[in-house]
Amino acid sequence: MCSKVSKADNDLRKLLSEKRLKGDEDRKVGSEVFDRLTLETLYKLAKMGYVNQLQGAISTGKEANVFKGVDDQGNFVAVKIYRVSTSDFKKMQQYIQGDPRFNVKTSNKRQIINTWVTKEMRNLKRALEVGVKVPKPLVAKNNVLVMEFIGDDIGNPAQLMRQTIISNPDYVADKILNYVKILYNNAKLVHGDLSGYNILIDDGEPVIIDISQGVTVDNPISRELLNRDITNLVNDFKKMGVEISKDEIKSKIMDV
Ligand SMILES: Nc1ncnc2c1ncn2[C@@H]1O[C@H](COP(=O)(O)OP(=O)(O)OP(=O)(O)O)[C@@H](O)[C@H]1O
Ligand SMILES: [Mg+2]
Repeated sequence: MCSKVSKADNDLRKLLSEKRLKGDEDRKVGSEVFDRLTLETLYKLAKMGYVNQLQGAISTGKEANVFKGVDDQGNFVAVKIYRVSTSDFKKMQQYIQGDPRFNVKTSNKRQIINTWVTKEMRNLKRALEVGVKVPKPLVAKNNVLVMEFIGDDIGNPAQLMRQTIISNPDYVADKILNYVKILYNNAKLVHGDLSGYNILIDDGEPVIIDISQGVTVDNPISRELLNRDITNLVNDFKKMGVEISKDEIKSKIMDV
């Protein structure tokens, strides 16, 4: 028992060691992200073996930071940490309230974020179940989501579709449209923020990420979000050299 506690303490020290957050950007992120409750959450996840080390930031977004972590088996994981200080609670509340899976009528900011993280986890699971390639979610706790790391074996994260040269654009576009179709028809979900900035390219394969705002098709805003996703895809595909119209995409998605 004693050795377990001291191992966990040790792991936490490692996890939080400034040395592990390399570079100025990461250090800045470190102090911004790690408020007391986030530290406690990471400590619990370390004790449970989900994240024993954080090895620096992959991305510093508006609302969340994504870190590369290592679990107690030595596998890379992606750790997404929502910042309570900068999250858009009004938007989160609107999306959660229209979702029949969540009956949360709270204005407590931490509760809203926790529900948001749970929603991201459930959307990822639901997408995986119908065969959409997304990072496998591993655990959601408070404002932290741990998921499969998408990248190579030595820990380089996969590139965003929008920021990489695609060698197989027709294949990639076709795969993505099929994912949107099965997400809509089988998982009954609309991603809601789909674009080349939320698709990773891993060994030539598209992987859909960042599905926290995804809504069920019976949500009143689902149609509007689907239209926006389609518009984004038309533009992104065009940049990759794949010409397809909104109407063509719509008929592909609705063709069941
Ligand atoms: N599972 C993962 N494996 C590898 N890299 C990831 C993974 N998930 C996210 N990333 C990287 O982190 C970045 C941000 O992740 P994500 O899109 O989920 O956050 P975000 O919601 O866009 O953040 P914000 O809204 O605050 O800008 C991605 O663009 C990607 O580069
Ligand atoms: Mg994103």
